[in-house]
Amino acid sequence: MNRNQSLRLLIYVRHHWHLLPFVMVSMIAATLLDLAAPWITGVILIDRVIIARDASLLPWVAFGLLGAVILRQVFEFAHRYFLALLTQRTIHHLRCDLYQHIEGLPVSFFAGTPVGDMVSRQVSDADAIEEGLKAFVTEAGVHLVMVFGVLGLLFALNVQLTLVILPFLLILAVVMHIFRRVVKGFSRQVRDSMGRLATLATETLSGITIVKAFAMERAELRRFSGTSQEILTSSVRLARLEGYYHVSVEMILIGSVVLVIWMAAPRVLAEQMTVGALVAYLGYLARVQEPLKGLSKANFRIQKAMGAAQRIFAVLDVATEDSKFTGTVVLQKSRGHLQFEAVSFGYRDDEPVLSDFSLEIHPGEAVALMGPSGAGKSTIVNLLLRFYAPTMGRILLDGLPLNGLDGRSLRQQIAVVNQDTFLFSTTVGENILYGKPAARQEEVEQAARAANIHDFIATLPQGYDTTVGQRGVALSGGQRQRIALARAFLKDAPILILDEATASVDSEAEALIQDALANLMGGRTTLIIAHRLSTIHHAGRIIILEDGRIAEEGSHQELLDGRGLYKRLYDLQALA
Ligand SMILES: Nc1ncnc2c1ncn2[C@@H]1O[C@H](COP(=O)(O)OP(=O)(O)OP(=O)(O)O)[C@@H](O)[C@H]1O
Ligand SMILES: [Mg+2]
Repeated sequence: MNRNQSLRLLIYVRHHWHLLPFVMVSMIAATLLDLAAPWITGVILIDRVIIARDASLLPWVAFGLLGAVILRQVFEFAHRYFLALLTQRTIHHLRCDLYQHIEGLPVSFFAGTPVGDMVSRQVSDADAIEEGLKAFVTEAGVHLVMVFGVLGLLFALNVQLTLVILPFLLILAVVMHIFRRVVKGFSRQVRDSMGRLATLATETLSGITIVKAFAMERAELRRFSGTSQEILTSSVRLARLEGYYHVSVEMILIGSVVLVIWMAAPRVLAEQMTVGALVAYLGYLARVQEPLKGLSKANFRIQKAMGAAQRIFAVLDVATEDSKFTGTVVLQKSRGHLQFEAVSFGYRDDEPVLSDFSLEIHPGEAVALMGPSGAGKSTIVNLLLRFYAPTMGRILLDGLPLNGLDGRSLRQQIAVVNQDTFLFSTTVGENILYGKPAARQEEVEQAARAANIHDFIATLPQGYDTTVGQRGVALSGGQRQRIALARAFLKDAPILILDEATASVDSEAEALIQDALANLMGGRTTLIIAHRLSTIHHAGRIIILEDGRIAEEGSHQELLDGRGLYKRLYDLQALA
């Protein structure tokens, strides 16, 4: 699992591989130049100038020092720049892939996953990965090279003593490995809590009016504080772990030094080893410890990032709807011939919503769908848009099964006004243009007129350029609905679906929209879902859905002659 994730991250780095040599070379150059200053002051200034009493080399010392410092800065700058370029490009790539993947996930996934958590994966988990990536690309690489380099020198100096140290390095590797798992798990906990916090905050803030209306601010604060506390607890636990880890690393390293002294000192006394050799050996031993510590720190950061990577790859592993239930046949322009053949469906296995539902809608026909709340009317729309797939039976468009059709091309054939209107927090005009981004202004206005909203828009301070507020809060419910209608009208698709599209519009405005609709419906397959009888006025055929089956079917007059639900509804609404 772990190796798998590292590999997957590396695949992302690979796309920007060409930057890696720049990162490495600039880092090594900066490190080496750092070593130049002590050499210039030590060897040249002290030995050759001061002790040798020769001032002629002084300019060399001055320019040498200056040059080394400047060059070092240049390389350090280059290192930072290329490192940022490499990691940021990698993360950008990963972030966009993740977004594209999330967009492609089936509707059922979103029904079960809070938006806030997805956002936190996109933003904060991607950030955490960046940290780990930096540690991985520079520190881990350079330190590893240094460790092996110095280890080689140690062997050259004294094979026996170095063999003594090796077990310590082995223990160190084991400790690093043990901590790796734990750190990753803890980091995952922290990140999961962060996701929950983001979920909570996005949800309460988007429902802030409900929170206030029910005076639930304190309760919400408690909930928020509880989740925030979870982050605190797991973060402190992680910090404690980091502490234990560093102490263990330190102890192991000190242990090796003590052992070397313990073993080497008697040899020096017995004159089997020179004092100089021991000092040099201890010097290099100290030098190997720095990169080892760096390596262990990098290990910690990388494992923290792996916790975040787990969360991102978990989403990337959910199958997209394309792979799940759409095909490859591309429809150019549908005739709008719809067939439901013995369709059964339920959101949950134990709760059927539609059972054995069959219906044929001919090209250009207008059909109204009525029925009690929860009967499955909106579910039929969900199936038509292929948000969900039937458990049994099939749906055909122009004689082609939906599961063979390309998802995009299927949805291009359908203009829908949903039961809950959703507007984006941009301008009125852009919201309508969503139906057909390339439309001209006249087309937009024409659609707005048909939806009986143009006159209202004209009264707005900036007309079509007026912003609608977060999700359209600056508009009334009926106005929002009519903008959604205009959006669907502008799309000008062969199939038009109106799911309670005028439920919040007053009767007078609805009558006007009905007239426009009568024109729009010409040559278009239309499915109108409504509770109000006045809304379904134009439909040639009315279907009554009850318990997931068709209970009644016929024209207005035919149904009135019956004794079913339609007649009862008619009597009730006529009374009102
Ligand atoms: N995403 C979902 N997950 C689980 N169950 C769902 C989901 N959406 C709807 N349902 C259930 O499916 C049934 C049919 O819902 P549907 O939205 O189709 O009803 P409807 O006929 O449109 O009702 P209304 O007139 O109130 O809009 C309901 O019992 C509902 O609780
Ligand atoms: Mg509904």
